[in-house]
Amino acid sequence: MSTRVLTGITTSGTPHLGNYVGAIRPAIVAARTPGVESFYFLADYHALIKVSDPARVQRSTLEIAAAWLACGLDPDKAWFYRQSDVPEIPELTWLLTCVAGKGLLNRAHAYKAAVDRNRAEGEDDDAGISAGLFMYPVLMAADILLFNAHKVPVGRDQVQHIEMARDIAARFNYLYGGYLDLPVPQRPGETTFADARQVFVLPEAVIDENVATLPGLDGRKMSKSYDNTIPLFAPRDELKKLIAGIVTDSRAPGDAKDCEGSALFQLYQAFAPTEETAAMRQAYAEGIGWSDAKQALFDRVDAEVAPLRDRYQALIARPQDIEAQLRDGAMRLRAAHATPMLQRLREAVGLRDLGKSGTPGAAAALEKKHAAAAAPAFKQYRDADGKFYFKLVQGERVLLQSAGFASPRDAGQRIAQLKEIGPRQGTRDGDAADFMLGEGVSDDEVNAALAAFVAAQLDGEAGQG
Ligand code: TRP
Repeated sequence: MSTRVLTGITTSGTPHLGNYVGAIRPAIVAARTPGVESFYFLADYHALIKVSDPARVQRSTLEIAAAWLACGLDPDKAWFYRQSDVPEIPELTWLLTCVAGKGLLNRAHAYKAAVDRNRAEGEDDDAGISAGLFMYPVLMAADILLFNAHKVPVGRDQVQHIEMARDIAARFNYLYGGYLDLPVPQRPGETTFADARQVFVLPEAVIDENVATLPGLDGRKMSKSYDNTIPLFAPRDELKKLIAGIVTDSRAPGDAKDCEGSALFQLYQAFAPTEETAAMRQAYAEGIGWSDAKQALFDRVDAEVAPLRDRYQALIARPQDIEAQLRDGAMRLRAAHATPMLQRLREAVGLRDLGKSGTPGAAAALEKKHAAAAAPAFKQYRDADGKFYFKLVQGERVLLQSAGFASPRDAGQRIAQLKEIGPRQGTRDGDAADFMLGEGVSDDEVNAALAAFVAAQLDGEAGQG
């Protein structure tokens, strides 16, 4: 089975060098990797959360689509589509909304930051915050889960959203997996999911350590929100002017200069091969003048971007062609993936043909029972050494074993923490000192068990409500 790699680009701005180096360039390389099925899409529904200027949403969608195509994305090798052309995405968003914990969404960084700003200004907590901003992680989970993506390349600021998508997926799997006895749609060369109970693949965030976060004109991360970007397709003379405006320190030609912390150097590095970067490092040590360093950067960037810029201009002059390409991509994608997947999901939750019988019934109830029997559980006990321990068990298997705690309360608190902070961080940040994994147990297994555990607990709470 191929590895499915998926990422979305919010259509709220003009592509800049940071987008190119951080997302477009690596994605296009990755799309050529054998055994990888890539999904790149224009997240225009996400744009509506931030932008209420319709002309800007339209313009940005066109510019971003043209940029990816100009940079070499081949729509025959990767799925390339516009989110709003795939109605299964908002449909799935609702199904996921009904299983996503409100408490989970309360913890989203973007939402919390908005609340904090309101508090700092003495406003009501939710002043000016749309439900769209609050629901953002659910829409993003639908983007990812609809295609059962395995890997999601994103920036650090998005990692929490991927973890939320995992949590939501785990909960959906827990609630509805047992009811799914329909065959999994197959594509040539693909196998069915090993576990029919797993409706959704649990996606993983991928952060490429080799891909630089590009600094902007002022040395901070290049970002539209800092207004410090260099547009990817700025005309040559504008590019030159912008590069001339990058902050440097006041060292004169002849003075040795630091590469560390130099925005100019980092930009150069992102566009130059290793040997040339090494030579530039040497030149800095030997006191290259800032204006020469800027000229060298301009030459490098322009050499790489000039041919792309020409293609971009040609593409953007024919927006109707881009429109047709996007529609074609979405149409094929829906037929191959989205429509059959959503059909399974509708069946799973009970949005079913009333005329058809024989679905789930007794068999599914039995499955549910099995699932419950195998549900993970925390067990607390006191050992001969007088200390208090806990373990996470699933059936016979010990997934996680704690060290000894002085009191049952301490042990209980640690368990509560594992539950609270959620599955992934639970084992990732968990100090190895106070628990260890059972023999032959992988991180992933514990994470999945914790996710199911948390889901089961939520289910219990919902049941009591
Ligand atoms: N929220 C992402 C961003 O702002 C864009 C996005 C939307 C996305 N849906 C996605 C990224 C799904 C990855 C997967 O960068």
